[in-house]
Amino acid sequence: MKKQWWHDKTAYQIYPKSFLDTNGDGIGDLPGIISRLDYLKDLGVDIIWLSPIYVSPLADQGYDIADYYGIDPRFGTMEDMDRLLKEARQRNMYIVMDLVVNHCSDEHFWFKEACRDPEGKYGKYFYIETVRDGKLPCNWRSYFGGPVWEKLPGHEDKYYLHVFHKKQPDLNWENPALREEIYKMINWWLDKGLAGFRIDAIINIKKALPFRDYPADRDDGLSDIYNMLRDAEGVGEFLGEMRDRTFLPHRAFTVGEVFNEKEEELPDFIGENGYFSTMFDFSEAVFGRGMGGWHDDAGITPDDYRNCVFKAQKRVEDIGFLSNIIENHDEPRGVSRYIPEGEASVTSKKMLATVYFLLRGLPWIYQGQELGMENVPLHSIEEVDDISSLDNYQVAIRAGVSPEKALRAVEKFGRDNARTPFQWTGGENAGFTTGTPWLRVNPNYKEINLEAQAADPDSVYQYYKKLTSLRRDPLYKETLVWGELIPCLQDLHHVMAYFRKSEGQTILVIANYQKEGRDLPLPGTPGRLLLTNGPQPPIQEGRIYLAGYQAAVLLMEES
Ligand code: GLC
Ligand code: CA
Repeated sequence: MKKQWWHDKTAYQIYPKSFLDTNGDGIGDLPGIISRLDYLKDLGVDIIWLSPIYVSPLADQGYDIADYYGIDPRFGTMEDMDRLLKEARQRNMYIVMDLVVNHCSDEHFWFKEACRDPEGKYGKYFYIETVRDGKLPCNWRSYFGGPVWEKLPGHEDKYYLHVFHKKQPDLNWENPALREEIYKMINWWLDKGLAGFRIDAIINIKKALPFRDYPADRDDGLSDIYNMLRDAEGVGEFLGEMRDRTFLPHRAFTVGEVFNEKEEELPDFIGENGYFSTMFDFSEAVFGRGMGGWHDDAGITPDDYRNCVFKAQKRVEDIGFLSNIIENHDEPRGVSRYIPEGEASVTSKKMLATVYFLLRGLPWIYQGQELGMENVPLHSIEEVDDISSLDNYQVAIRAGVSPEKALRAVEKFGRDNARTPFQWTGGENAGFTTGTPWLRVNPNYKEINLEAQAADPDSVYQYYKKLTSLRRDPLYKETLVWGELIPCLQDLHHVMAYFRKSEGQTILVIANYQKEGRDLPLPGTPGRLLLTNGPQPPIQEGRIYLAGYQAAVLLMEES
């Protein structure tokens, strides 16, 4: 595989609204990010993805863009953005923005014009259909609940399509004029010095046309959007064109948010000259999810987690580089999901960090993950901000689930979990703001915060620093970045172990994924211990003793 400049980097996702507020309005901002670049550099971060900061009514927290060329005043100004780009460049860091082009905001000029004149130029930027006898063009269910069709403001018989929220009308990619607008905008940002994009919800840009019904799968008479996506052929034509017209000439870094790609299309997505540099591995995130919504989730065990990860690694081994995560702004906190309930501790959090961070692929840290931030307790549905959580709650209630159980499902999977403010200190509002935070601070900030962890050599944060430096250590980089990944001890329960192997060097990552300590067989002869989250593990007669949730990274002797 051809080496790329970004392969040996560490990437970090910032959710700007919750990172750091510098003017006391309770909303994180660009000056806050700039002021913490040194912190991120010191953590070992090279690439930073910012969730959307464009002008937006924030109906879906910025994933509803009203002006692609402007910074929302709540986040700062274009001067702040230029300064961020410059300050990042000075530190050899790369800024990546969110590219949200499946839809825009209903407050975007294009959509307002479309409402004014549905037959005109901008009407064709969207999917607008005339409805007779009240029958909607199709019965697809939007991701945030309800039908994908909404009445076009000002028109009794016209409806527009939105696969997400009704304030996020879908852009019509079949229209070449719309595609030109998008490419122009992407190039404008790349010319400014942006390193690339995280590409939002991109698989949805291709619809199965003409619109038709699919079998209903809940008693709302609607059909999951995935049923349509399975039939949608030809997204590659759009993606290839976008790559050729924008990313390729700028040598931009891109990471796709891709769910449900077709197996045989994987090389087109992230192979050599793929549509994207890389894409996220979501297989662990979606594991166990039932058709009924969050209340219908079967959960994930340590063995499931391991099997999922290895399967994803196997799929891409000859094709490209995955982006590895344990959480993001749409998912629960990784330590709350992948560590069995009641067992999240400094030790188990470090174990989880070890096993995912040293996988083959690009490691991503989501803000606060480096502190071991956890899901936030939920007492009432009134506390919830996230539209997807509100919808999932209603879905559960309609399915006959008790309000208490529905609330617990939201507590477990709600997107607010990852969106509570970053816990900088043990002081007021966790040091996030001097005002009132837009979303409640996790009450555990007195125990879990950067200030305390920076002063504690055994903290989760200090351990993340060790991981980032280990991966870029010139002695091991060839193996840990580009080396093959070979799973081992797969027949044992609650063990996650794999080799990373390059020409002449083998490294074993081995973890005891349970709270009881145990003796494990060692595959091969160990040399130096490179990292562990516990005491020096005793090794004797081909066996290693690992305490509960202990992980070890061992350089192996070559035979
Ligand atoms: C992606 C984003 C999510 C957003 C959705 C619609 O999944 O990550 O936050 O709600 O797209 O843009
Ligand atoms: Ca602010």
